[in-house]
Amino acid sequence: MISGRGSNLQALVKAAQNEAWQARFVAVISNQPDAKGLDFARQNGIPAIVVNHRDFASREAFDEALAKTIDSFSPDLIALAGFMRVLTDPFIDRYQGRMINIHPSLLPHFPGLHTHERALEAGVKKHGASVHFVTRVVDEGPIICQGEVPVLPNDDADTLAARVLKMEHRIYPLAVKWFINGRLHQEGSQVQISPPESQYIVQA
Ligand code: GAR
Repeated sequence: MISGRGSNLQALVKAAQNEAWQARFVAVISNQPDAKGLDFARQNGIPAIVVNHRDFASREAFDEALAKTIDSFSPDLIALAGFMRVLTDPFIDRYQGRMINIHPSLLPHFPGLHTHERALEAGVKKHGASVHFVTRVVDEGPIICQGEVPVLPNDDADTLAARVLKMEHRIYPLAVKWFINGRLHQEGSQVQISPPESQYIVQA
């Protein structure tokens, strides 16, 4: 599920191709009709579907339509890749344990928006991205893996965002691959990866 550019979507599709994943992308769904990632999906033969939140009177109605669309494809995994809508509790509960998200910070630091600006403002020396299972609280939920990047003295939000994005493209495919290979499970507030993995933390 996307809302925009779709660079993480591209990273996933490319990893799947390069590494011959035993999985297929059944659909790309966007709440934004003009999301660039939809073009990429179409070019790669993946059904590209818009469920425009503006067409619905309430968050609940939107989420119901979204769930109906998702369920029509019977996916094993739902990957949020820059999907920028807050989801309702019933929607999240429905896909518990099989919906994951990537967030551009080292959670639990900087949930929400403008993570790079906030990291610079806080003066942290290390920043990055996290992949986590989606739970009811936005940008919270059991962390699957994280990628760290340094914050350099001359960074602005754009240079830092670019460094983090590159790292996002490394760690999201890792997590999805673990899931596809049946190694990754959510156990309450914890994540189980079996056999254990050495790449929970990826460094730049
Ligand atoms: C990525 O940086 C992703 O981590 C972020 O949106 C961007 C989407 O880029 N997601 C969030 O902030 C979710 N809280 P992309 O469309 O090029 O993948």
